[in-house]
This record gives sequence, structure tokens and C-alpha cells, in this order.
Amino acid sequence: MKVASILSLSLSLLAASAEVIPKTDYDVIVVGGGPAGLSALSGVSRVRRSALLFDDHRYRNGPTRNMHDVIGNDGTPPDEFRGLAREQISKYPSAHFKNGTVKSITSTGTDDVSAFTVTDATGKNYTARKIVLGTGLRDVLPDTPGLQESFGKGIWWCPWCDGWEHRDQPLGVLGNLSDVFGSVLETNTLFSDITAFVNGTQNPEGEAQATASHDDWKEQLKAWNVKIDNRTITSIERIQDGAVHQNKTLDAQYDKFLVHFTEGEPVERGAFITNFHTAQRTDLAYKMGLNVSDEKIVVDTSGMRASEFGVYAIGDANSDGSTNVPHAMFSGKKAAVYLHVQLSREDSASKISKRGDLSYRELEKEARRAIGDNLEPQWAKATRRN
Ligand SMILES: Cc1cc2nc3c(=O)[nH]c(=O)nc-3n(C[C@H](O)[C@H](O)[C@H](O)COP(=O)(O)OP(=O)(O)OC[C@H]3O[C@@H](n4cnc5c(N)ncnc54)[C@H](O)[C@@H]3O)c2cc1C
Ligand SMILES: *[C@@H]1O[C@H](CO)[C@@H](O)[C@H](O)[C@H]1NC(C)=O
Ligand SMILES: *[C@@H]1O[C@H](CO)[C@@H](O)[C@H](O)[C@H]1NC(C)=O
Ligand SMILES: *[C@@H]1O[C@H](CO)[C@@H](O)[C@H](O)[C@H]1NC(C)=O
Ligand SMILES: *[C@@H]1O[C@H](CO)[C@@H](O)[C@H](O)[C@H]1NC(C)=O
Ligand SMILES: *[C@@H]1O[C@H](CO)[C@@H](O)[C@H](O)[C@H]1NC(C)=O
Ligand SMILES: *[C@@H]1O[C@H](CO)[C@@H](O)[C@H](O)[C@H]1NC(C)=O
Ligand SMILES: *[C@@H]1O[C@H](CO)[C@@H](O)[C@H](O)[C@H]1NC(C)=O
Repeated sequence: MKVASILSLSLSLLAASAEVIPKTDYDVIVVGGGPAGLSALSGVSRVRRSALLFDDHRYRNGPTRNMHDVIGNDGTPPDEFRGLAREQISKYPSAHFKNGTVKSITSTGTDDVSAFTVTDATGKNYTARKIVLGTGLRDVLPDTPGLQESFGKGIWWCPWCDGWEHRDQPLGVLGNLSDVFGSVLETNTLFSDITAFVNGTQNPEGEAQATASHDDWKEQLKAWNVKIDNRTITSIERIQDGAVHQNKTLDAQYDKFLVHFTEGEPVERGAFITNFHTAQRTDLAYKMGLNVSDEKIVVDTSGMRASEFGVYAIGDANSDGSTNVPHAMFSGKKAAVYLHVQLSREDSASKISKRGDLSYRELEKEARRAIGDNLEPQWAKATRRN
């Protein structure tokens, strides 16, 4: 008899006896092998929870040359960082890795005891009691020729990630007029020659949107000496590659680009900060019917719990308002602690053969005690956007 059919058989008995713990292939299945998923895997494996991590290698920071602002690993190429993490986690016997795509996740549990069947791209099924989604986001870029190829290599959305290496060079801001002031607030300590290429959005609607978020944006942009170029962008041409033109002593990368327009002369810049949309990397959360708001899986940040019992969302994909590697690791760790304690509560309740009190309030208290809750207010303040 296959595990899956044993599972569905035992689950059909669950309604009558809530204390029965379903027999599954793993305690936890983690989807996504970026810093979020790897951190969750580490956290559950060190307390000997059996876990399987699926990954299909579409990492958000895949295009970047180096990862920054991750203490102890400032400047490490992201694939090296993930490789080291995998190597270190591999020593825990209950940690398992699988290269592959998860196609669907079906709940087979009850209100009291969660269980899931995970189906991969080959049609194979795997079962687990808890699911962690560390599936990430993707950047939705306009199809402007030259943009996609250079994204992460002189054209970036996050000054903490790549600003320093281009400091004091001529900076371009790409995005709508209403996003320019926010970009200047983030970059003014690194750049003084800033031109915003607003691509035709300097119109009454764009101005009204800008005013809605910052009353006196016009005066303030003037005070920072920011130029606004409203022409329609046709392409962004790379004329020098900062991967080759570098000064390692200075930690400087010298990319050079020309912005071309439907009319007039092109403009040269050394780097760009962008303001474009992001979207869920995978449609899993939608297919599972989770609450996804504004392309973010809505979580209760006390334990990174998604809207379905037994499902956790971490890293860029979740809604706690922060998208960077330290947040990915933090949220993965937080989910790992929470779900381990949750599993132990379920196990513990089943041992005394009566339905345990699995109130969220108690569970939260337990998890907070284990991870410490003093960091949360600081995170909320410091990482509101990045
Ligand atoms: C160009 C660029 C540069 C950046 N530089 C930095 C930096 O210097 N410092 C910093 O802190 N942050 C940086 N970031 C942000 C950083 O990349 C993200 O915050 C981080 O990668 C989030 O980690 P994650 O684990 O949530 O997602 P990801 O790293 O994107 O990993 C998600 C993984 O899940 C996999 N996956 C998704 N769906 C499925 C599925 N159905 N089945 C199997 N696998 C699946 C994906 O293929 C991917 O491998 C940068 C971002 C960009 C775009
Ligand atoms: C799985 O992917 C990782 C990361 O790219 C790679 O190091 C490893 O060799 C792959 N394993 C298999 C079995 O293909
Ligand atoms: C895999 O699980 C799904 C969902 O529970 C089920 O519909 C399907 O029949 C299973 N496939 C196999 C090969 O067991
Ligand atoms: C510029 O605007 C045009 C027309 O609205 C649009 O198609 C294009 O994607 C925009 N380019 C950028 C870089 O925003
Ligand atoms: C900016 O460009 C748009 C689209 O071409 C145009 O409608 C608008 O009038 C321009 N704004 C200014 C200030 O020239
Ligand atoms: C890098 O910068 C340092 C310090 O300004 C300078 O001495 C050195 O010559 C530069 N190296 C290259 C290769 O330009
Ligand atoms: C920029 O403005 C256009 C037109 O109003 C809109 O469709 C688009 O979503 C805006 N982009 C961002 C990143 O807000
Ligand atoms: C989804 O989450 C949003 C944001 O927290 C909330 O406002 C909304 O009520 C939720 N919707 C459902 C159906 O739970």
C-alpha cells in the first residue's frame, strides 16, 4: 500500500479522533531553495524534523554579480552563498534536497491536524504535515531593449544591494514620476548627479500622484538638484561593462549606459535605480487558494503563518514588507521555530490521547519565547520598503 493511500485512509479516521498524527513522508516540505527556504530547512533540520526542500533555481538575485549587506558575506556571489548553505545543512541526516518544480499542493488534513500532498513536475507525490513556501518574487520589467540583460548589473532596484559599487557616478532613476522622490530619498547619500527618466509620466495625472505621496516633492527634487527627463525611452544601451571595468581596491564597478529616446540626444549614465512591479514567482499560492494580496502571500508575522492551517510563507513571497536576504533568513528561521513547536504540540497532544489545546495564543507564546520577540518592531521600522 502506498504512503499516500495509507495517509488518506488514516485521514478519513481523523474527524472522529483528532489526536491521530498522520503518517507522512516528511514532517515538512519546503518549496524554494533561496535564503528563505534554506534558512527554514536549517532550522527544522537541527531539531531533527525530517524535511524535503524542492528548488528549481529561479533565484531573484540570480542576475547580480555580488550579494551585499549580508553581514559576514558582503560581496559573496549569491550562488556561492547558497552552495555553502546547502553543504552545511547537508550534514543533518533529516534534511533532504530535490531539484525540481512543485506543481501543486493539496490539503488532505482536517481543522486540527494538517497534512498535504505535494506533486512535482514529474507527477510524483510526496506527503508532509507542514508546508513552507519560500518561493520568492520575480521582477516585472518593461520590454525596453537592453533593460532585462543589464538588470542586476548596473541597473538595480535596491541601493543597499548595488549602490555602493557605483557611488558618485551619474545616476538615472527609471520609473513613474510619482516614484522619483522616494528613489532620491534612498540614494542621495551615494549620488549627487541624478536624472530621472520618467518616460512621459510628467503629466497632470503623474503630478497628482506624486503630490499625493509627497506634498512638496517638486521643491525638494529641485533642492537635491534632480533633473527630470520626460522623453519616451526607446532603449538602454550598455557601452561599458562594470564586470570588466572595476577597481577592486575601491570596490567600484564602472558600468556605462546610454539612454535612447524617440527624439533628441541620448544621455549617458553609470547606474540606474528602478521602480517596477514584482509578482509571485510561482502560482502555487493562488492555486492553493491562500490569501494573496498585492502579489504577496498574506502572513501573520508572529509565525509566518499563511491563511491556511499548516502553511507558512517566508522571504520575498510573504507580506511582511521586506525583501532582502537578511529578511529571507529571519523569516525562514521564524517559521521553522514556530512550526517545530506546533508539530511538537500536536505530537504531545496525541501522546496523552486526548485532543490537545492548540490555541494560537498559547502557541504564539511558545514560539516567541523560543525565538525572542524583541526584534520585530525594529524590523518593521528599518525595512519598510527594502
Ligand atoms: C538583481 C537583484 C539583486 C539583489 N541583491 C541583493 C543583495 O545584494 N542583498 C540582499 O540582501 N538582497 C538582494 N536582493 C534581494 C534578494 O534577491 C531577495 O530578497 C532574496 O533572494 C529572497 O530570498 P527568497 O528565498 O525569498 O527567494 P529567492 O532567492 O528568489 O528563491 C526562491 C526560490 O524558490 C524557487 N521556486 C519558486 N517556485 C517554485 C516551485 N513551484 N517549485 C520549486 N521551486 C520553486 C525559485 O526557483 C527560487 O529558486 C537582490 C534582488 C535582485 C533582483
Ligand atoms: C541540484 O542543484 C544544485 C544547485 O544548483 C546543484 O549543486 C546540484 O548538483 C543539483 N543536484 C542534482 C542531483 O542535479
Ligand atoms: C497524487 O496526489 C494527487 C492529489 O492528492 C492525486 O490526485 C493523484 O492521484 C496522486 N498521484 C499519484 C501518482 O499517486
Ligand atoms: C515607457 O512608456 C512606454 C509607453 O507607455 C512603455 O511601453 C514602456 O514600457 C515604458 N518604458 C519604461 C522603461 O518604463
Ligand atoms: C511628458 O510627456 C507626456 C507624454 O508625451 C506629455 O503628455 C506631457 O505633456 C509631457 N510633460 C511635459 C512637462 O512636457
Ligand atoms: C584603484 O584605485 C586606487 C585608489 O584610488 C588607485 O591607487 C589604483 O591605481 C586604482 N586601480 C586601478 C586599476 O585603476
Ligand atoms: C506607472 O504608471 C503606469 C501608467 O499610469 C501604470 O500602468 C504603472 O503601473 C505604473 N508603474 C508603477 C511601477 O507603479
Ligand atoms: C487577506 O489579507 C488582507 C490583508 O491582510 C485582508 O485585508 C483581507 O481581509 C484578507 N482576506 C481574506 C479573504 O482573508
